[in-house]
Amino acid sequence: MKNIIVIGKHGQLSKALAARAANHGVKIIGAYDIEDCDLTAPENVIREFAKSLPAADGLVIAAAYTAVDNAESHIDMAHQINAVAPGIFANECAARNIPVVHISTDYVFSGENDRPWLPDDATDPINVYGETKLAGEVTVRASGARSAILRTSWVFDGTGKNFLTTMLRLAQERDSLNIVSDQIGRPTYAGHLAEASLASIYKLMHEPNFNGGMYHVSNTGPAISWADFADAIFTTAIEHIPHTMSVGRIPSSDYPTPAKRPAYSVMDTSSFETEIGYAIPSWEAGLTEAFSEWSPS
Ligand SMILES: NC(=O)c1ccc[n+]([C@@H]2O[C@H](COP(=O)([O-])OP(=O)(O)OC[C@H]3O[C@@H](n4cnc5c(N)ncnc54)[C@H](OP(=O)(O)O)[C@@H]3O)[C@@H](O)[C@H]2O)c1
Repeated sequence: MKNIIVIGKHGQLSKALAARAANHGVKIIGAYDIEDCDLTAPENVIREFAKSLPAADGLVIAAAYTAVDNAESHIDMAHQINAVAPGIFANECAARNIPVVHISTDYVFSGENDRPWLPDDATDPINVYGETKLAGEVTVRASGARSAILRTSWVFDGTGKNFLTTMLRLAQERDSLNIVSDQIGRPTYAGHLAEASLASIYKLMHEPNFNGGMYHVSNTGPAISWADFADAIFTTAIEHIPHTMSVGRIPSSDYPTPAKRPAYSVMDTSSFETEIGYAIPSWEAGLTEAFSEWSPS
């Protein structure tokens, strides 16, 4: 059994990592939440982190500033958490030859494409969150630590704050919703992202000659819009909501948000599946698993 540290404790990915680590031959010896290790204060980050590093064989950075719209008005905080802190962790790991898995996002891309994004495609973020996450990729790579950077998209589970749980909450109150239908991507169940992360850190820890790289990790299955995803959620949830739900399809221009969203963020996951050896399940399978976690509040 190898020991890892996880940055993040209560987020969607952090919780899924804790639930699945043992099944992947990995023991989490430290998981930091914002109380233990506030990523906006670098001196705390280094002090807390250095305490547990000597016993660690690997690190997974699961924490991030994920409030995409708020990032537009909290640029410094988002940059500190998404770019500076991951670099600090990665530098400490590089000095001790400890491998790192870091999570990034489809939002590093512009959204202008007609085929799934490849890991080497040119990045061009269109919002602050995407810019800060791209800067985080750069700091982790610059550290020289052996690392796998996993870009993911549209993360959901059955208990966190996400699109699925929001849809199910709204379905208790309303029988119709208008949802954006001109943003196309692929959802990612947090449990499957955790398994992909664990498979990656496992390979890095067990194969010293494997240098990692940049990978795309979303659930497989058809590329869909948010409106399609809402339809799929309501179909799957049919027994749990009091009525049928009608989903109206609207353009993004009818749902203005502080941060612009990429129109097309489908990612090609094939290099991840080939190199890491984890076959990523479909988002439909992820939806079924997420429902097993969900309970009406
Ligand atoms: N959610 C998505 O749709 C999405 C899409 C693409 C990429 N991603 C990426 O996937 C990764 C996992 O995201 P997620 O969905 O699991 O995120 P999440 O549920 O929003 O959780 C965010 C995590 O970050 C931690 N955090 C935030 N501010 C912090 C601070 N100042 N100091 C310390 N910790 C702080 C939280 O700490 P606590 O443990 O204390 O709560 C929590 O563990 C992130 O890198 C994210 O950028 C997410």
